[in-house]
Amino acid sequence: MKLVFATNNLNKLKEVQEMLPDSIELLSLKDINCFEEIEETATTLEGNAKIKANHITNKYNYNCFADDTGLEVEALHGEPGVYSARYAGEPANAENNMTKLLKNLGESNNRTAQFRTSICLNLNGKQFLFDGICEGDILPSKKGEKGFGYDPIFQPKGYQQSFAEMNSEAKNKISHRGLAIQKLVEFLKKLH
Ligand code: IMP
Repeated sequence: MKLVFATNNLNKLKEVQEMLPDSIELLSLKDINCFEEIEETATTLEGNAKIKANHITNKYNYNCFADDTGLEVEALHGEPGVYSARYAGEPANAENNMTKLLKNLGESNNRTAQFRTSICLNLNGKQFLFDGICEGDILPSKKGEKGFGYDPIFQPKGYQQSFAEMNSEAKNKISHRGLAIQKLVEFLKKLH
């Protein structure tokens, strides 16, 4: 079965393909000649994942899944959440986003936060949602050089390292996206 992952991030694509049985062939957006930008206009992660998956299924007639991720900070009432990528404005910039988040959080004692990934799968006319959560804390300042996005200021619960101090294998095992993808893969494996 051919299944589109609505992404052009080849690292994400490879990671998921390696977890799937050979009977499922993952295709990227480029593979199906989808080059238009899909506007993420929803106010929830689930909504944006649905918009992306539905765009591909409706226009290109493929089974497809799409993901959307946000960092939800308790003391900021769930911000930046669905607006994580462009929290500090356009163009998206990870350094500016982290600086804005640290400034808004200030000296707050409540550093509780979570990354959340929502995945929407459109399969043979049915829709399925999967989610993955990684709980942790926002550090007082940036720590570590690896990863991307908010990794240098996020420390997962039970660990003494920020995401940016972990290698990708260690991060993927406990990360929001890793957990959501594991759920998706288990679901797909049961069908085969
Ligand atoms: P996306 O939905 O995967 O594109 O993620 C949206 C935004 O959330 C990204 O632009 C990053 O700012 C942030 N983000 C998503 N996943 C991670 C992660 O694993 N670490 C740090 N930041 C992330």
